[in-house]
Amino acid sequence: MRICPKIDFGVLIVGYRAGMNHDAELAAQVANADFDRANIARMYDYHLGGSANFAIDRETAEQALKIAPTERDYCFANRAFLGRAVRHLVTEVGIDQFLDCGSGLPTAENTHEVAQRANPEAMVVYIDHDPVVVAHGKALLDDNEHTHIALADFTRVEELCQVPAVARNIDFSRPVALLHGSSLHHVPDEADPWGVVRRSLAGLASGSYLAVSHVCVPRDPEMAAVAERVQ
Ligand SMILES: C[S@@+](CC[C@H](N)C(=O)[O-])C[C@H]1O[C@@H](n2cnc3c(N)ncnc32)[C@H](O)[C@@H]1O
Repeated sequence: MRICPKIDFGVLIVGYRAGMNHDAELAAQVANADFDRANIARMYDYHLGGSANFAIDRETAEQALKIAPTERDYCFANRAFLGRAVRHLVTEVGIDQFLDCGSGLPTAENTHEVAQRANPEAMVVYIDHDPVVVAHGKALLDDNEHTHIALADFTRVEELCQVPAVARNIDFSRPVALLHGSSLHHVPDEADPWGVVRRSLAGLASGSYLAVSHVCVPRDPEMAAVAERVQ
């Protein structure tokens, strides 16, 4: 895992569904959320010791640990990487705005906590396509004017800058750190994850950064079979 410095071109992005009421859509989606099915964000939260998870998430996460005992270590390692990346970007590079894609549930050492410890004015916008994540995040983040969370699908790159929380709070004429922490493996090959990243970067000002952590299929065939079973 490493941070790729800068991308040197571009202007973001066109057309979001005009007039869409995000909060109304979110409320409707949460109302319809299926709490009998395990959810990846809540399982991740459980592994990290958070409390925003349900019995089905805990049971499924424990099952996964039986197949892949290192899964929890991976969660902590991933989180630690993100913390280091954000700290580096704020303190060494001077980045003061973050677009955290596939942010997951607010848990320990979130991007805004790490960033704002070094620079209280740093702006963080989280996006996730899971309405439960976003509803929970909104409840937790309400009192922070420099931190926002929005329901959005990061693969719909051309629409992202029109999402109100993004449009209002991220200035795309200045450098931005785009974070993809363990999110891109949710995009199947047919949905072109490489293209998603390429198109996202094309909209960022010179001096912007991309930080990616990525789950991959292990080279060791035995471990690759384990990964397949966990999926
Ligand atoms: C494993 S969690 C990672 C959380 C956090 N980024 C981290 O690294 O600690 C992956 C998150 O990506 C979200 N996600 C997956 N596909 C997405 C998409 N197309 N758009 C927005 N969020 C997505 C999931 O809902 C989930 O919350």
